Amino acid sequence: MFFNIRETRLANVVLVRHHILRPHQTPEETISRGDLHPDAIHLGAYSDESLIGVLSAGPEPFPHKEVARCWRLRGFAVYPDYRGRGVGSALVEAIISLLRARECSFVWGLARVSVLGLYSRAGFRTYGEVFDIGHVGPHCTIVSQLRESNVDL
Ligand SMILES: CC(C)(COP(=O)(O)OP(=O)(O)OC[C@H]1O[C@@H](n2cnc3c(N)ncnc32)[C@H](O)[C@@H]1OP(=O)(O)O)[C@@H](O)C(=O)NCCC(=O)NCCS
Repeated sequence: MFFNIRETRLANVVLVRHHILRPHQTPEETISRGDLHPDAIHLGAYSDESLIGVLSAGPEPFPHKEVARCWRLRGFAVYPDYRGRGVGSALVEAIISLLRARECSFVWGLARVSVLGLYSRAGFRTYGEVFDIGHVGPHCTIVSQLRESNVDL
């Protein structure tokens, strides 16, 4: 399957978030403050000009420790018919390379335990214990240090 990844508008991203991740919320309710930051990145994976997957990142402090130039991943989702073909991995790889170019030092996020293998192959590791988020199931904090830093994590 051919697909390409490019920056897209938040208005497109929130529709996919609503469909896949948070059907109980309206698309607008899935927007967080970091999404609206001027430096936020919203990536879409497109196949035949249809949006098939999304991933966003925005500057947001790491809640467990003070870290400079810190970004958070949000809203990672691929439509079921397109999963297991590398779209999700390509979205993570693309956002990491954009973050490196923007001199981001540290990326974190909350990941479903079922997705830890994918994140681990992209250079992330877990931080802290597994915890439950409501009806969504077990999650873990994931982190990746993109640059040398004197912060010991
Ligand atoms: C998580 C999610 C975004 C991953 O998207 P995806 O496009 O399926 O991701 P990939 O195809 O890159 O990887 C998925 C699996 O397929 C495998 N895979 C990747 N390319 C492949 C290929 N060409 N052929 C066969 N398998 C492949 C990967 O190794 C990975 O295996 P793993 O689950 O054992 O780690 C998607 O499953 C999803 O939207 N899930 C529901 C929402 C969700 O859980 N979001 C994440 C919240 S943290």
